[in-house]
Amino acid sequence: MSDTAELIIEGKSYPLPVKVGTENEKAIDISSLRAKSGYVTLDSGYKNTGATTSAITFLDGEDGILHYRGYPIEQLAEKSNFLEVSYLLIYGELPTETQLKSFSDQISQHSQLPAGLEKILAGFPTTAHPMGILSALVSSLTAFYPESVEPNQTEEQIELNIIRLIAQIATLSTWVYNHGKGQPLNQPQEGLDYYTNFLHMMFSAPGQAYEVNPVVVDALNKLLILHADHEQNCSTSTVRLVGSSHASLYSSISAGINALWGPLHGGANQEVIEMLEAIKADGGNSQKWLEKAKDKNDPFRLMGFGHRVYKNFDPRAKIIKAACDNILNNLGVKDQALTIAKELEQAALQDPYFVERKLYPNVDFYSGIIYKAIGLPSQMFTVMFAMGRMPGWIAQWKELRLNKEPIGRPRQIYIGKTKRDYSPVADRA
Ligand code: ACO
Repeated sequence: MSDTAELIIEGKSYPLPVKVGTENEKAIDISSLRAKSGYVTLDSGYKNTGATTSAITFLDGEDGILHYRGYPIEQLAEKSNFLEVSYLLIYGELPTETQLKSFSDQISQHSQLPAGLEKILAGFPTTAHPMGILSALVSSLTAFYPESVEPNQTEEQIELNIIRLIAQIATLSTWVYNHGKGQPLNQPQEGLDYYTNFLHMMFSAPGQAYEVNPVVVDALNKLLILHADHEQNCSTSTVRLVGSSHASLYSSISAGINALWGPLHGGANQEVIEMLEAIKADGGNSQKWLEKAKDKNDPFRLMGFGHRVYKNFDPRAKIIKAACDNILNNLGVKDQALTIAKELEQAALQDPYFVERKLYPNVDFYSGIIYKAIGLPSQMFTVMFAMGRMPGWIAQWKELRLNKEPIGRPRQIYIGKTKRDYSPVADRA
């Protein structure tokens, strides 16, 4: 294979280097094109643009493959746990027993939120969307850990902030939830594992400790692992872009949380349940809503269907569908919204509109159903996604900084007015 591509513009040839990844992905390196030819490339939504080289996650959308640091997602979801996967993503290798224990112990030790943060939380209306509060509180951590804003931190300082984020996102998520419900905020308990601690902080009420169900822990673990990274998606690209200006880890992650919130991205899991509830309230006619989704004059889209990169199936959806069935059976959940979900899934999988456009259920179609079964309100679903995505965002931020990547700054093609002269206001018609 040639290691050079040739681009001919206005009869002139421009040789461009070809870059090949370890999984044989190929790219034409156009970084020198503008300097040589005056041309930029145009790719709205970055559908065909590689923004970086990365050694963290490999994804093949055509064949439905997802690997973290080379390990297939199916193996990790079945055999590993979220903290081990977090370590893998951030440090590049699976931990030894000693490394995993030290990592887990440090996370347990740092899960307490800084004094003063409770007062900031108390200032938010209880009706506020949890994602807005979460991003604000993560950003506020820069105030409590001021060394994190220094561009030239030591490796130890960066490591400490990484541990704090993995630990404190769990505490923050549960506090945001309980604040919204007007309930007391539970403190993390040392000695409890990550999941038990999280479930305790989320659901224990005064005098009533949450009873941990292993099926719930298993589903939670799988969901967090499946969401842990997904290469250069919208929120991760946001984290990298913000991080490229040497903004702090907390500021970069806070920006990622905001990007994740959107209904076309992580916010889709909330939208899925709200869509199912709306269909239920409308009489439960799934076919009618399927037709709405196909109607180009109707802005409605079938939430939880379609994916920018997976064009055959979402490997995460396969795994989580099984966990979803398991948890619904175990908890004995009977809900018409879930019947509607199954009907929509079946109908869409056979409908030529969805088949031709390769629109399949994505991970968010099932994750919301699981979170609902566990007892979380729909506004908290994207918070759970953010908690899962934390190690991925951190790993990507760290990679960017270690690789000393330049500040992100795309170009554009200007299509506005050409130069014209200013006229005084009195002269304007
Ligand atoms: N319902 C109905 N039609 C759809 C849907 C949908 N969910 N998704 C895509 N389409 C149609 C589009 O209208 C378009 O049709 P056309 O070719 O006739 O114009 C075609 O399929 C291609 O759609 P695009 O929007 O161009 O695809 P893109 O890759 O840009 O968007 C996206 C992917 C944003 C995920 C889209 O499928 C969508 O909006 N899905 C619903 C929201 C959702 O579930 N998001 C979660 C994604 S997973 C995640 O972020 C973790």
